[in-house]
Amino acid sequence: MGLPAGLLDAGYTRLLRPVLFRAYDGDPEAIHERTIRLLAGVGSEALARALTGLVAGSSGRRTTVAGIDFPSRVGLAAGLDKDATAVLAWQGLGFGFAELGTVTGRAQPGNPKPRMFRLRDSKALVNRMGFNNPGAEAVAATLAARNVYRGNAAAGIPIGISIGKTKLVALEDAVADYLLSFRLLAPHADYVAVNVSSPNTPGLRALQDGGALADLVGALRTEAEALAAGGRPVPIFVKVAPDLTWAQLDEVLATCADHGAAGLVATNTTLARDGLAASDQGRAGEAGGLSGAPLTRRAREVVAYVCAHTRLPVIGSGGVMTAADAVALFDAGASLVQLYTGFIYGGPGLPAAVNALDGERKGS
Ligand SMILES: Cc1cc2nc3c(=O)[nH]c(=O)nc-3n(C[C@H](O)[C@H](O)[C@H](O)COP(=O)(O)O)c2cc1C
Repeated sequence: MGLPAGLLDAGYTRLLRPVLFRAYDGDPEAIHERTIRLLAGVGSEALARALTGLVAGSSGRRTTVAGIDFPSRVGLAAGLDKDATAVLAWQGLGFGFAELGTVTGRAQPGNPKPRMFRLRDSKALVNRMGFNNPGAEAVAATLAARNVYRGNAAAGIPIGISIGKTKLVALEDAVADYLLSFRLLAPHADYVAVNVSSPNTPGLRALQDGGALADLVGALRTEAEALAAGGRPVPIFVKVAPDLTWAQLDEVLATCADHGAAGLVATNTTLARDGLAASDQGRAGEAGGLSGAPLTRRAREVVAYVCAHTRLPVIGSGGVMTAADAVALFDAGASLVQLYTGFIYGGPGLPAAVNALDGERKGS
């Protein structure tokens, strides 16, 4: 029997979060790494069962998107489990799917630290991680060691893998770099997300432009078909920035539809700094992408726009801090939603609450 979402929420926000936020002199990346290392141990059956028990009872709403059967509609957003080491933990924490990565073709250290900042009064984060990750080959090995392969449900939930461009690879060679990651990781992924919207790799967002995006998505789709050898190609989702204009989004949507993308993830972090508490203005000056509560409104607006202008399914991401925020994205047309910052501030009570509310609304 699991705990009700409200109790989980109070336990996390009143007891555990203050400890986590103070640990390592308040360094968010240090406690993040420590927590992921702990969760990576969840391969052990007993801990997996204990975690599953914690959030049991919040089953959410089952759905099929892009041919994938999702046990519930709330997932983990990319960037939280970049190395995929905690892949077996996410189901137990209440998620109906998890997007791992972003992974690049080659291993890279990311930007110099500090590169992750809490804006506590705004319930936000600013990050400029810069795709720190061990590279596609190492991540494929991590997933193989845990027997996570496309369609085998080894993680209990569908697994998406986000791929991005290696910083040292020139923009004109980006397609080959994405293809390298794709070939290595697609066998382990129920879907692949193409990240062309992180603000922290110079030039990356230019890959959202029509011609460049067409080349990239077209090449990945061709590769997916080759890998499928007559079977169903792995679905490809394209993740967009919230800072695009409507005209730019129109172009992205047309390109995705024309070149065989299965859907979109909207949105990534924003370069804007609207909606911050006065006490957080100092940190607002840190370079990087802003996530969390200040992004809620813009992400909702972009999701609504995208859903109104494409028939492809949309995964909503950005500023889901409460179950009601998730429902607003569903009402805007999203088929699924993802959490990052809301999970940092709300803990496992948040996916449980989203599932509870979504499940309740099922009949309505
Ligand atoms: C520290 C941090 C690292 C992130 N890394 C990635 C990443 O590697 N790839 C990606 O597609 N999105 C990344 N994101 C963006 C999230 O997946 C999400 O789209 C964004 O934060 C908005 O959702 P949120 O408001 O729930 O956090 C990152 C976000 C944060 C806060």
